[in-house]
Amino acid sequence: MQERTLAIIKPHAVSEGFTGKIIDEIIQNNFDILAIKKIQFKKEEAEKFYQIHKGKFFYDNLIKFMISGPCVVLVLSKENAVKNFRDLIGNTDPEKAKNKSIRHKFGLTNRENAVHGSDSLKNSKKEIAFFFSNADIINI
Ligand code: CMP
Repeated sequence: MQERTLAIIKPHAVSEGFTGKIIDEIIQNNFDILAIKKIQFKKEEAEKFYQIHKGKFFYDNLIKFMISGPCVVLVLSKENAVKNFRDLIGNTDPEKAKNKSIRHKFGLTNRENAVHGSDSLKNSKKEIAFFFSNADIINI
């Protein structure tokens, strides 16, 4: 089934100049980019986006990290986009992620792991709506 998923290129990957390389990986793996923008999370926005992780030991540092600089957010489309993108980015921990995965290539730590990808179709819909209105997304 053709699906949409949300990707975020995280602050360290943007500031280190990996945006183009990560977008190239996304395109080479046959995802269509339906929308893209550069954003700067405000603290309250990052807390809302990651509310599911509130209370976990890594939450406070995750919020600090996600507001530390600009991110690039993308709406991607492909057959089984949610699972296919999670496979492309790899394990949360870049050291455990497969060699060819984006997190293995561009991630540094569990937290600074280069990219976010929605973990379910339900969450992808919520996450896309968090950043984009329907009018922002090309309808192909
Ligand atoms: P992401 O896909 O954006 O979803 C939640 C984020 O929390 C995750 O990527 C990591 O950046 C961060 N995270 C998850 N587990 C850990 C952990 N064990 N230690 C530090 N950060 C984590």
